[in-house]
Amino acid sequence: MHRVLSGIAPSGNFTLGNFLGALRHWVSFQDGHDAFYCVVDLHALTSDIDPAAVRANTLDAALNLLAIGLDPERCTLFVQSHVPEHTRLTWLLECTATMGELRRMTQFKDKGQGQEAVRVGLFTYPCLMAADILLYDASAVPVGDDQRQHLELTREVAVRFNNRYGETFTVPEAAIAGTGARVMDLQHPERKMSKSVDSPLGTIGLLDSDEEITRKVRKAVTDTDGEMRYDRAAKPGLANLLDLLAAATDRSPNEVAAGYERYGDLKNDVAAALCDLLRPVRERRARLESDLPYVHAVLSRGAAQAHEVASATYARAADAIGLLPAPPAT
Ligand code: TYM
Repeated sequence: MHRVLSGIAPSGNFTLGNFLGALRHWVSFQDGHDAFYCVVDLHALTSDIDPAAVRANTLDAALNLLAIGLDPERCTLFVQSHVPEHTRLTWLLECTATMGELRRMTQFKDKGQGQEAVRVGLFTYPCLMAADILLYDASAVPVGDDQRQHLELTREVAVRFNNRYGETFTVPEAAIAGTGARVMDLQHPERKMSKSVDSPLGTIGLLDSDEEITRKVRKAVTDTDGEMRYDRAAKPGLANLLDLLAAATDRSPNEVAAGYERYGDLKNDVAAALCDLLRPVRERRARLESDLPYVHAVLSRGAAQAHEVASATYARAADAIGLLPAPPAT
């Protein structure tokens, strides 16, 4: 059975972008795959840290992942920092990747821009992400379009390590869906919808109410020529709305565009489709909130399952690179 791994950073409220670009595919990959999903709390330490918020957001992320339909009987759900091999393998990969490769990462350039004191962890972040993936011998990694470059780096590092030290890692492929892979901000359709950017009207939260969703879609920026066609470059706001309805109803954006003449009608249907999509998530989440011991039990079992796989891969990599096997614990 093919192994799948993906992760999400607990760095704010999950968005519709996270859901359409990645999380709904995580749910599908539970069938017919050996799926590992990870709340990557260590990645959330690369920007301003409020320890209480890190703790709360990590639990909140786990609740959301169960609420979207991850089933602990069909996947392994765990918290990254519970499996120490993630940081151990990161070091081996930092000694494999180059400064030049990391400097080219657009996410580093974007997030580091304008900051006076950029943390080393923000720079080496892609090595931690590569470790997340390679530890599980994942062949597919379901992510949104913005993670493409990180996946490419992961592949390069894996191939280099294998060539230098002997066949150790499975070289993974990014699994990026067609529609919904790049959901844009509703107010600033030239930039992606993001949980770490403050754009209250432009961002639809995973747990937004029907009223909030409808209000934000109605206020979404479009254009003034009133021409219904899918053109991301010339009509980014409209294209985003068409993409959203296409992703929510499993059609192509051109097909969706053919069914409308007026922007207002399109917006009404986008809002209705998104409400239908997210309502069950909110309902499941409300039920889970009253059973936190269950959530902790899932994470504890997930950590044990993940550790079993990760420790075997780490031992293989450590041996390949020439580290002496650790003496048995006394
Ligand atoms: P993160 O936490 O920013 O986002 C989680 C997932 O959501 C996708 N996504 C989007 N998709 C479409 N449109 C959007 N506007 C949008 N915004 C976010 C992301 O592509 C991602 O799939 N570095 C990763 C987390 C990570 C990871 C990993 C992922 C750490 N280790 C190992 C896969 C495998 C990140 O910051 O994602």
